[in-house]
Amino acid sequence: MTDGHVPLKFNELPPEEMLARAHQMYERMATRRTVRDFSDRPVAREIIEQAILTAGSAPSGANHQPWHFAAIQSPDIKLQIREAAEEEERAFYDGRAGAEWLDALKPLGTDDHKPFLETAPWLIAMFAQRRGGVHAGDTRKNYYINESCGIAAGFLIAALHEAGLATLTHTPKPMNFLNDICARPDEEKPFLLIVVGYPAPGAQVPEHALIKKSLEDISSWF
Ligand SMILES: Cc1cc2nc3c(=O)[nH]c(=O)nc-3n(C[C@H](O)[C@H](O)[C@H](O)COP(=O)(O)O)c2cc1C
Repeated sequence: MTDGHVPLKFNELPPEEMLARAHQMYERMATRRTVRDFSDRPVAREIIEQAILTAGSAPSGANHQPWHFAAIQSPDIKLQIREAAEEEERAFYDGRAGAEWLDALKPLGTDDHKPFLETAPWLIAMFAQRRGGVHAGDTRKNYYINESCGIAAGFLIAALHEAGLATLTHTPKPMNFLNDICARPDEEKPFLLIVVGYPAPGAQVPEHALIKKSLEDISSWF
């Protein structure tokens, strides 16, 4: 180690393998679907732990890792979250969302009933930390918390999918109730609630979710 740096561990691959892996990654990720109908089959805690470690390996502003993951399997806490979320969702679907947003959600067929918050074996409440630092317990200002947490959430969802689990990214609005229920400080912003488990037998997904933009639609090349 010189000057606070260490040699990079970089695993170079032959070009054919690079291409094959790029294709395989796309094929695997493209089969991920947001699920809203979960089985109550248990899922081992170690799988959730490994997925959270994967999320925690994500890049972040100044490497402050401005995230906290509350992993919940307690039926009592899941019930509290369901009750609080459904209260917010009732107001949301009763009009707080506004006509344009409700219209955008129509093809998904969602409503204010969120039974999966109790049925699924795991909920992961992800919090974004406004203050922190590279070491646990630091209290410095954090930077780019939304970008950092968004990337970490992507890692988390990909890791859970790769482990053979289904997820739902749930965002009851507002979801400050998560701070109270999960005993997180006010300076942490509830970021996402990820529902994790097996899909219920015969689970269906909206056709709307299968519409994905083409490479031409989402990219430009110079
Ligand atoms: C930030 C974010 C918030 C979301 N919030 C909800 C939600 O509250 N409830 C829900 O049923 N789906 C929610 N979703 C899931 C989207 O509806 C879903 O990703 C989209 O319809 C595409 O489907 P797919 O994930 O199967 O590709 C959310 C997704 C994201 C990325």
